[in-house]
Amino acid sequence: MCGIVGYVGRHAATPVLLGGLRRLEYRGYDSAGLSVQDGKELLTLRAVGKVSRLADKVRAEWPEELQTRRVVGIAHTRWATHGAPTEANAHPHADASGRIRLVHNGIIENYRAIRAKLEAKGHVFASETDTEAVARLVGEYYKGDLRKAVIAALRQVEGAYGIAVISADEPGRIIVARKGSPLVIGVGEGECLIASDPSALISHTRRVIYLDDGDVALVTADSVDITDLNHAPMDRDVAELEFEPGAVEKGGYDHFMLKEIHEQPESVRNALRGRLDLLNGTAVLSGMGTGARELLDLQRIVMVGCGTSLHAGMVGDFAFEELAALPAEVQPAAEFRYRNPLVDGRDLVVAISQSGETADTLAAVREAKDKGAMIMGLVNVVGSTIARETGRGVYLHAGPEISVASTKAFTGQVAVLLLMALKLGRGRRLSRERGLALAAEIARLPELIEAVLRQDAAIAKVAESMAKHEHAFFLGRGPMHPVALEGALKLKEISYIHAEGYHAAELKHGPIALLTPGMPVVVLANRSPVVDKTLGNAEECKARGARIIAIVTEGGPVAAIADDVIQIPDCDPLVATIPAAVALQLLAYHVARLRGCPIDQPRNLAKSVTVE
Ligand code: M6R
Repeated sequence: MCGIVGYVGRHAATPVLLGGLRRLEYRGYDSAGLSVQDGKELLTLRAVGKVSRLADKVRAEWPEELQTRRVVGIAHTRWATHGAPTEANAHPHADASGRIRLVHNGIIENYRAIRAKLEAKGHVFASETDTEAVARLVGEYYKGDLRKAVIAALRQVEGAYGIAVISADEPGRIIVARKGSPLVIGVGEGECLIASDPSALISHTRRVIYLDDGDVALVTADSVDITDLNHAPMDRDVAELEFEPGAVEKGGYDHFMLKEIHEQPESVRNALRGRLDLLNGTAVLSGMGTGARELLDLQRIVMVGCGTSLHAGMVGDFAFEELAALPAEVQPAAEFRYRNPLVDGRDLVVAISQSGETADTLAAVREAKDKGAMIMGLVNVVGSTIARETGRGVYLHAGPEISVASTKAFTGQVAVLLLMALKLGRGRRLSRERGLALAAEIARLPELIEAVLRQDAAIAKVAESMAKHEHAFFLGRGPMHPVALEGALKLKEISYIHAEGYHAAELKHGPIALLTPGMPVVVLANRSPVVDKTLGNAEECKARGARIIAIVTEGGPVAAIADDVIQIPDCDPLVATIPAAVALQLLAYHVARLRGCPIDQPRNLAKSVTVE
């Protein structure tokens, strides 16, 4: 979604800002803009479309000398919410004097009331956005101290924001503030950067300060001074970013998605590192913080998440019930707080999120906290809001996931959920023998994934026929049902093929009416106690002329009916969800590539969904 970059320091701001915006392109956006402070003036440019159009505009309209002068600046990529993606609606927005500029992520809920008040005072708005109301409000309060004006304005504002503000009258300063929308300050040598996502600043510095909700910071080249909205000083630690700058490069792959698919042996290895106890057949997850007593007392696990993270939770649901004999359920995070959920102190609520910033998942965490439940985060991005608000949890250690389509986060989430289920199971009723066997299977995950990746070319061949269709089904049973949902989600989001995932037995209760001759039906038919039933469901589709693409276990019963077969190594059915998902990721990738789709940044999508 929207992205923020800011710079103040010893280098020219414009190239740093444009570079930062390029780093944030993966998040999804539809317009971009930047403002720089030059002497006594603010200069602003905005453009609809890609950051490259904004860069072209900079080159065409600003003299080279200005582009390389040392200046302070803020920049933004906008994903339209209030008003169409037009130049007028793009950020940075100005106050009435034009001497203050502001960029904003989030949604101002009472912007209509603020706008009406300001219009009654004679303001003429230049955009349809909620953001402009805040920019103008800051201008109303400005009496020579930008931080004071920002605080006064924010005290009037309801909703979520991460903002960065500069003034023509205060050279060398940026004011930033956050509530509900992430902001991080990069602290370099004689320079500071601001970003809504650390990937925009990793090539400049690894030292960062994560702002908390309610923080307002005055940032200069050499200092960061943080207060709350009552002007009381706040202390925030400087943290060290974990990942390398190369992690946000394509590294020779055509797309981030393909790179991230191929990173999975390593990312899953990182998720497992130091956490599998192969001698005792259990897992060591200190971040869970559950002692022996708490484990026995747990009455239920509730997982919340959105999209791919929700699907990972659905796999976890099977694992918790089977291994730990623990009632488990998965709820779409967007629904959780509106249904007045039944949770209490003996329930463990696990918030699953790659970004750690998804608005609905965060709201579910807050609701569960209010209800007194135990909370845990299963998050990839270190220092993200969900990671910090949950207080305890397990990081995925998958490294930055840049492609909008989530891949390595899913396999990392499932791997960690399996570890959690193993640990809870061993603390409750899982036998040592079963624990040892399962731990050994989980340890094989990197090699299982590698075996699927070796079939890349064969899967690309299977994609050729699929790419010609506009509809597809994905079928699975048990823990492979959520993998079918995930396979369908991957295909639809990057190839724009209409794809539906179903429980294999559900098809004949309605959706089978949609089957037409030649329609691709992907069937997850790995070794499992119900594989014959699944193959029977595949037969039903075949009898109606469908083209069957079967994901099967090596050496297992290969469905004679299958038109195409993709093999995964023989392994435990819960563990098999991971190599099977990798096969479906590759399938979706190759279909999208053959259809010429913009794989890393599909239309209408954003990497992290920070609005409800
Ligand atoms: O960052 P999160 O895991 O909380 O994001 C949740 C979903 O927005 C995300 O998984 C989305 O469904 C992906 N585009 C799927 O590939």
